[in-house]
Amino acid sequence: MDLLGSTTALMAICLIVLMVWARRGKRKNCPPGPMSLPLLGSLPLLKGQDTVSCLKELSKKYGPVFQVNFGSTPTVILYSYEVVKKALIDRGDEFLDRGKFPSVDKINKGLGVIMSNGERWLQLRRFSLMTLRNFGMGKKSNEEHVQEEAQCLVKELQAKKGEPFNPASLFSRASANVISQILLGERFDYHDPKYLRILYLLTEGTRLESSFAGQLYNLLPRIMEYLPGPHQTLFKYAYEIQAFLAQKVKDHERTLEPSNPRDFIDDFLLKMEQEKKNPQTEYTRENLMMTVYDLFFAGTETTSTTLRYILMVLVEHPEVQGLLTQADLPYHHAPKMATIFLSCLIKISFPGLGICTGWVMWHDQMAPPPGS
Ligand code: HEM
Repeated sequence: MDLLGSTTALMAICLIVLMVWARRGKRKNCPPGPMSLPLLGSLPLLKGQDTVSCLKELSKKYGPVFQVNFGSTPTVILYSYEVVKKALIDRGDEFLDRGKFPSVDKINKGLGVIMSNGERWLQLRRFSLMTLRNFGMGKKSNEEHVQEEAQCLVKELQAKKGEPFNPASLFSRASANVISQILLGERFDYHDPKYLRILYLLTEGTRLESSFAGQLYNLLPRIMEYLPGPHQTLFKYAYEIQAFLAQKVKDHERTLEPSNPRDFIDDFLLKMEQEKKNPQTEYTRENLMMTVYDLFFAGTETTSTTLRYILMVLVEHPEVQGLLTQADLPYHHAPKMATIFLSCLIKISFPGLGICTGWVMWHDQMAPPPGS
């Protein structure tokens, strides 16, 4: 056989092996889904940045519950309001756990509130919700901070004197200050270089997370771990933010007055003191650090992106802008809710881990199997 013939034969054998493998991937009793290749899984079908549109197309073909493989990790996608509600609300107790997310797992180490599971998650979530509320989140007492931030924001916007500019950074500065008041008990000047550095790390980190290298890390963590690339920068940035917050925790420990807790960190430190004789306690310095990091991260990017989208929608609908200047509060909620409804703010939620014990049928669709 000549060289061309041998190459073609080799390619044909590889293709057959891949097809056999892909068929093996369609295990009995699994939800329907596209073919899956070794190592890459369904990646070739999930065209890079436009994963959401690809999942939408797949849902048209396979229904609202289907399986794709992110690398070698089988993942059940829930793609409709009804099935998401059924899983996360009606059967919420069976879907409490987090699934694996290699890049975030590496940064969070199973600590904190977002990526933890079991008793740790339960305790930290309960404490976080209660303490955020105590310091005014969702209450009138926090309105003062929001008003103050809104005024600073308007001042910065006016200083642009109608020139075009990108509002992303300004919205991050305002959003992070509101959450920072609750967590750290302070707000930062919009031009403070240290604050700007932290916000840069936050925004850039989020971008790197969803970059090609970031996605590849989540598919092939064991290989990517040893390779240089933007994913390594992502971890460096996350650790720099954590070092900044660790310094804030140290400052709080030095200046803590038990009778006068100032913010979330102080309350956590007091809880740590209360629990210091409990060997099983989840109120440790490591969990404090990671919970503050989680809340700072989760609260900043999401809120500033939402503000950006609202601005975009208002720019596209000047007639609504005009009405907002005269209308009362319920009317102000309408464009906000419409924006959240219309835009895809968070493309894919954090993975959940089903702990259900058997298969169930919903609308002729299989429910996620145990461990998926
Ligand atoms: C418009 C703003 C926001 C959006 C769109 C948003 C979106 C989300 C989404 C999609 C999740 C994943 C839910 C799940 O896995 O079931 C989540 C979780 C979370 N968010 Fe937000 N979020 C926003 C604001 C905030 C704020 C202001 C904070 C904190 C101050 C926050 C803290 C968290 C935390 C701690 C979790 C993890 C909850 C858990 O695992 O128990 N979020 N968020």
